[in-house]
Amino acid sequence: MVKICCIGAGYVGGPTMAVIALKCPSIEVSVVDISVSRITAWNSDQLPIYEPGLDDVVKRCRGKNLFFSAEVEKHVSEADIIFVSVNTPTKTRGLGAGKAADLTYWESAARMIADVSKNDKIVVEKSTVPVKTAEAIEKILTHNSKGINYQILSNPEFLAEGTAIQDLFHPDRVLIGGRDTPEGQKAIQALKEVYAHWVPEDRIICTNLWSAELSKLAANAFLAQRISSVNAMSALCEATGADVTQVANAVGKDARIGPKFLNASVGFGGSCFQKDIFNLIYICECNGLPEVANYWKQVIKVNDYQKSRFVNRIVSSMFNTVSGKKIAILGFAFKKDTGDTRETPAIDVCKGLLGDNAHLSIYDPQVTQEQIQKDLSMEKFDLDHPTHLQPMSPYGTKQVNVVWDAYEATKGAHGLCILTEWDEFKTLDFKMIYDNMQKPAFVFDGRNIVDAEKLREIGFIVYSIGKPLDAWLNDMPAVA
Ligand code: UDX
Ligand code: ADP
Repeated sequence: MVKICCIGAGYVGGPTMAVIALKCPSIEVSVVDISVSRITAWNSDQLPIYEPGLDDVVKRCRGKNLFFSAEVEKHVSEADIIFVSVNTPTKTRGLGAGKAADLTYWESAARMIADVSKNDKIVVEKSTVPVKTAEAIEKILTHNSKGINYQILSNPEFLAEGTAIQDLFHPDRVLIGGRDTPEGQKAIQALKEVYAHWVPEDRIICTNLWSAELSKLAANAFLAQRISSVNAMSALCEATGADVTQVANAVGKDARIGPKFLNASVGFGGSCFQKDIFNLIYICECNGLPEVANYWKQVIKVNDYQKSRFVNRIVSSMFNTVSGKKIAILGFAFKKDTGDTRETPAIDVCKGLLGDNAHLSIYDPQVTQEQIQKDLSMEKFDLDHPTHLQPMSPYGTKQVNVVWDAYEATKGAHGLCILTEWDEFKTLDFKMIYDNMQKPAFVFDGRNIVDAEKLREIGFIVYSIGKPLDAWLNDMPAVA
């Protein structure tokens, strides 16, 4: 029986291994992690991550051919194929700080593999890592090989959170990169056979190592670039009276462009887009390509601009100050159907409002109070590290109240901001909410999910991204 072990039981490792176990009953899959509490949660009824459909897949395989364990070394030494899916945060100090990936966790995983292995292994790079990481890992393994043959493969993951299970069941493509040697090709074939249990062969693309790694960065950069493009248009739409939804619809009808990923928003978040673009920028700079680096930097700059533009719009609409005012924040996760808050635009928007002394009342259906407090009190890149290595919060956030209901959050508020497109926000009783808010009552819709006209009929002053402005907002000072 082929044995697979995945190091790192996170958003990528957990769902991916669960689906491999489900689709390949003849393969034994173990998922290991240094975080004992995370493993305990994977073995309980309350999984550590919220992902639609995941519970069902885990329940069907756990204890049969899917195991979650904190005995990292034991499972690694027994496995034929090892996936490495550990954190790759952005470096906070030293060379490449703020841009380059911190490969501490990857390196320590590689050294551990070298220490405990007794037979030949295929090591699969699953975390998003910058180009040429596989080469570095290969060096660590071969220099400590004790006669063992290691084949390194890059198999980047393209799943999106919130739709991970569906993405894994029906991937657009599976990408496997490996060495162009007979051993490398044999390793590619072995991994291909795993995916071939459920993925049509023409969707499994085999490339060299570097192409596979770079393709992941490129795909995420292209996707993020579409969002920054439409968000840049949204600012122009507001200034000129066009409607960004109509523009995006017309643009997306061009078959060469296509309709997806053209929703204007308060900004993109998530663990991948910003980090991968930073990596791309760093690689370009290291390779003497400053013009290319600057091109991609602009995608992040527009994203930051979009978040600060949103905050400015709130403050300027509310008589140029939100000091002492209660603002309800509906949604904190970086997108719907996940409890993940990594790089969520909500962090920057909330910090911006707190900077002007607002009182925030936050509700998200999946994010815990502890997580929100942590996010609002920690430095930008610290949250990407495993929990036990994160610094203690430097200060509490007294002006933040986390509540468990949208109606509670909006009670007595001067304004409400929608920062995540949760379905339940579309069907709220806005009349009741209006009656319980201070007047004038404002709605700032960062995801364009409410019917602005209906809300205006109720009495709200409504701001939607990239839409013609209310007369009220038009009369307020221009946003920087
Ligand atoms: C992304 C890639 O889609 C996935 O292929 C890769 O493996 C990991 O990174 P993810 O970050 O989980 O996945 O979610 P995604 O659906 O791409 O959304 C990212 C961010 O962009 C979210 O904040 C989302 O709200 C935002 N977004 C997305 C928009 O603002 N507008 C859009 O049109 C689409
Ligand atoms: P991703 O979104 O890429 O899956 P996560 O942060 O959700 O990232 O998951 C990464 C996991 O890897 C964390 O649960 C962390 O505890 C684990 N991890 C980090 N380093 C190691 C290591 N050396 N051995 C085992 N697990 C590790």
